[in-house]
Amino acid sequence: MTNVLVTGGAGYIGSHACKALKAAGFTPVTFDNLCTGWEDAVKFGPFEKGDLLDRPRLDEVFAKYQPVAVMHFAALSQVGESMSNPGKYWLNNTCGSLNLIEAACAAGCLNFVFSSTCATYGEQDNVVLNEDSVQLPINAYGASKRAIEDMLRDFDASHGLKSVIFRYFNVAGGDDEAEIGEFHRPETHLIPLILDAIDGKRAALTIFGTDYDTPDGTCIRDYVHVCDLVDAHVLGVNWLRADKGSRVFNLGTGSGFSVREVMDAAAQVTGRTVPFNEGPRRAGDCTKLVSGSTRAEEELGWTPGRSTLDRMIADAWRWHQSGHYEK
Ligand code: UFG
Repeated sequence: MTNVLVTGGAGYIGSHACKALKAAGFTPVTFDNLCTGWEDAVKFGPFEKGDLLDRPRLDEVFAKYQPVAVMHFAALSQVGESMSNPGKYWLNNTCGSLNLIEAACAAGCLNFVFSSTCATYGEQDNVVLNEDSVQLPINAYGASKRAIEDMLRDFDASHGLKSVIFRYFNVAGGDDEAEIGEFHRPETHLIPLILDAIDGKRAALTIFGTDYDTPDGTCIRDYVHVCDLVDAHVLGVNWLRADKGSRVFNLGTGSGFSVREVMDAAAQVTGRTVPFNEGPRRAGDCTKLVSGSTRAEEELGWTPGRSTLDRMIADAWRWHQSGHYEK
């Protein structure tokens, strides 16, 4: 058995990663406290319920499965909430990750794939970002993730812990078979909220800010298909197992779409109108977050082939209309 420990494997991205790992011949072992994940999304390998803040539980799971690598997704990820309740983010994300890193080192599991974020870059002057762009997060979520990146560098120097750090841009879409999909409660992400508004599950979408310095005044983001994203993670495990060393990769497409452009695409894909109103800015939002993926393409052989806006919305819409979404 070639086990990979997947923290957050019951969540949106983690469950897609488990499916991709299984398809690649690994056994994904999900470690999740179910604070935002769903046990019925754990379909591709064993489930160990546990909390990253519980070090003895982590030690037990490492001893039981002896994983060849860790994929670390488990984290709180709402930018707005991180501004109103930063302590929750520093405790869960940063302290939880420290426990996990120490447990991995103690167990001799020295391959670590980490789910970081473009929110570590913060507000930058309308540039397309790359891995060497300065990291100046403007919200506690991004700051908590940047601190984990720093920890990983220190534990590489001290313990030989090798890490592949993926800085994601905005993840969307879902599994081809709609076996799993995006399911947050509460939902805060743009595309599922637009779909909720379209089919009447909420009254209207509120656009958070229309006075940004962008062509239509709304924020611009780089959307990546979740299946492309998790493919990169499997490539990351193979990279580490081939002893290629620690490396940071941005996972973006180089194309940015404004909130209004995403709404227009959703209207087109679904053939419905998007009820919306205009509201004030949300604390912690950057004007524009867009990245190229040259390094991931050249060094990992990654291609974000499914990451067109229409495809991501169509996949999310299929999942949205499936019975799963109603639970
Ligand atoms: N937005 C709205 N109305 C809404 C929800 C979102 O206008 O009801 C806007 C936001 O202000 C932002 C854009 O849509 O401009 C995207 O917002 P999301 O909440 O979907 O995504 P974020 O960009 O805030 O954050 C997400 C993840 C983070 C990740 C980040 C990287 O939540 O984990 O993408 O950009 F780090």
